Amino acid sequence: MNTVDNIFSRRSIRKFKDIPVEMDKIGKILEAGRRAPSAGNLQDWKFILIQKSELIEQVAKACLEQYWIATAPSVIVVCTDPSKTESHYGEKGKIYSYYDAAAAMMSMILAAQDLGLATCWVGALEETQLKRILSIPNGIIVHAVLPIGYPAEKPPEPAKFNLYDVVFLDSYDNKIKDVPGYFQWYAEHVRGTAKKGKDLLKKFSEKLSK
Ligand SMILES: Cc1cc2nc3c(=O)[nH]c(=O)nc-3n(C[C@H](O)[C@H](O)[C@H](O)COP(=O)(O)O)c2cc1C
Repeated sequence: MNTVDNIFSRRSIRKFKDIPVEMDKIGKILEAGRRAPSAGNLQDWKFILIQKSELIEQVAKACLEQYWIATAPSVIVVCTDPSKTESHYGEKGKIYSYYDAAAAMMSMILAAQDLGLATCWVGALEETQLKRILSIPNGIIVHAVLPIGYPAEKPPEPAKFNLYDVVFLDSYDNKIKDVPGYFQWYAEHVRGTAKKGKDLLKKFSEKLSK
């Protein structure tokens, strides 16, 4: 599956099969996080990989008792040390630290999806509890928890706004009236249908000539 199809088909999964994830896949997901873009390439992130089920249960409790997290065989906790970005960018540095964590999260989510795995971004968490459980020092920000596993559910796509609602042209609130027309998606659709028809005709005439 290509990246765009990957992005289009991704879902947050909250129920995982009771089978472990291969370590080489976990390694690749962490690599994807490490290679994410970061402000000034400062890479202020730290990833805590958790494989022990007892510890995952404690993490689930610290995520406002989202016990479904404990169905995941692996969990990655994404933290950043904002001191690096703050010393480079002042006040804005703390915000960049949040962006960096988000970029790493999304890279790992998509890498997992590409490897046939499922995830869910978990941001509802008790930071102090997680810090205690995972011995995370003061000054480090705990951004998110990423449960990873093989999906045991197939939820439908939740409602999403259309491009018409969220894209403006040149100035705020200037909506694109005809989104498919503007992005030339009609042409793509017509070309696709014509190609299918052509292929069918070709197959049919090949059959006839046999
Ligand atoms: C910053 C952030 C925090 C989130 N926190 C949680 C969470 O604590 N628990 C949860 O079940 N889902 C959480 N989600 C997942 C969203 O609920 C989910 O992305 C949204 O419902 C859309 O569904 P989709 O991911 O399948 O498109 C979070 C997502 C983001 C981006």
